[in-house]
Amino acid sequence: MEAPSFSSFEFSSDRPLQEQLQSQLTQWICEGRLPPGTRLPSSRHLSTELGISRNTVTIVLEQLKSEGFLESVQGKGVYVSADLPRDISGPSAIRWDAKGALPELSDFGRDLNKTPLMEHGEILPFTPGIPDINSFPQKAWLQIQRTHQSRVSLLGYNGNQGYGPLRESLAEYLTLSRGVRCKADQIIITQGAQQAISLCAQLLLNEGDSVLVENPGYMGARKAFLARRAKLISCPMGEHGVDLTALQRRLNIASCHPKLMYITPTHQYPLGGILPASQRLKLLDWAAANNIWLIEDDYDSEFHYFHKPIAALQGMAEQTPVIYMGSFSKTLFPALRLGYLVVPEALVKVFVKAKSYMGGESPMLTQAVVADFISEGHFVRHLRRMRLLYQEKWLHLNHLLGTQLPQHVKPIAQSAGMHLAVEIPDVDDLALKQDFQKQGYGSSALSSYFNDKPTKTGLVLGFANTTKDQREEGISSLKGLLKRPY
Ligand SMILES: Cc1ncc(COP(=O)(O)O)c(C=O)c1O
Repeated sequence: MEAPSFSSFEFSSDRPLQEQLQSQLTQWICEGRLPPGTRLPSSRHLSTELGISRNTVTIVLEQLKSEGFLESVQGKGVYVSADLPRDISGPSAIRWDAKGALPELSDFGRDLNKTPLMEHGEILPFTPGIPDINSFPQKAWLQIQRTHQSRVSLLGYNGNQGYGPLRESLAEYLTLSRGVRCKADQIIITQGAQQAISLCAQLLLNEGDSVLVENPGYMGARKAFLARRAKLISCPMGEHGVDLTALQRRLNIASCHPKLMYITPTHQYPLGGILPASQRLKLLDWAAANNIWLIEDDYDSEFHYFHKPIAALQGMAEQTPVIYMGSFSKTLFPALRLGYLVVPEALVKVFVKAKSYMGGESPMLTQAVVADFISEGHFVRHLRRMRLLYQEKWLHLNHLLGTQLPQHVKPIAQSAGMHLAVEIPDVDDLALKQDFQKQGYGSSALSSYFNDKPTKTGLVLGFANTTKDQREEGISSLKGLLKRPY
């Protein structure tokens, strides 16, 4: 069969001719306008017909031959490959753009498809979870980065557990500053605390297992447990965090045996409670006696403003059933995507194996920079500076709320962290958050942190990433908004 005329091919000046010719020829073949077995004109003829150089035509024909769309037949010319499917565009063929024609997702994929996409929106003043990025010591960071970026040994696949010197630096820091009992061998570097939580969910839970979660609590953890098709059980919360007595009562009534408990004992997320030492010890005892894993998320405990950071639960006793995790997202910056797990020695191998196919290595260059950033003292210096800076911001925000909005807003004020949860009783806090956002401020609705029916409404205000002016203008905007009914 002879090819039709190619005179309808169109070429524009904004893309290479070669690319345009190749895509139009491929399209004609896939659409069946050049069926298998069609003989193409010679390259000289095509070049004249299309008004482009013969060299360009030859390169494209050779490329399509190497991809299997065309074939040369000795002494006869170039043909559309005979073994291409004949009715590639026929009515019975799969149309990938046709609704419902795709192969099925997994059960998990289908469930997930029904939930809204949780994306980090634009970073605005008061967006929770964002450190003061402008105060990051870029110069020291870049200097260290320069010393590592030409190291060939950091360019390959090299260790799913994480960069050795980083694990050594971290082990020392966690032991001295967070009271964690660990050796470098027990640390696994992850892609943020979120991957650490997902690894725990994958390795510790079977479908249908019960998991205790704080309520309100961290949504990312809930999602990771639900992805394992676990059953979430809300922990009753007291002023300082989990209320163990009420929890035990609830479990007895439900005659339910949880497999795992996810907890933020040193700074409850998002309310800010600090679980007293007596309760933390009780919790450890209770978990050990009942064979329950405790997943301790120590996401921002470096920032306590009027006393030393509270020591981690993990280090309070020998042989605890605790898996400890932390993140550099708050102490350095979120885009690093570096977090860490401290697991009992017996579990290291299985965690490393699981990590090897859940993303593999964390970026080596970044790990090497963080390792030196810690060992050269920049990390501790940066934390000290941020602690003072955030303390000032925390005091200022509390002062503004107390003077500007005394009747409306009740800060759930623990002197810690990078955000402040404020209770604004009986409001549609989702609508309030949206209106606040329209005025240029990020925040989260307190009700959105609840696992079931919210018992508190209000806003979670991230203050670390605000300037003095933004705090003043933001609280004044909030005051204006709260004149409306919500
Ligand atoms: C309580 C809590 N845990 C874990 C994370 C996840 O941190 P990462 O950025 O390291 O994944 C966050 C993030 O905001 C958080 O608030």
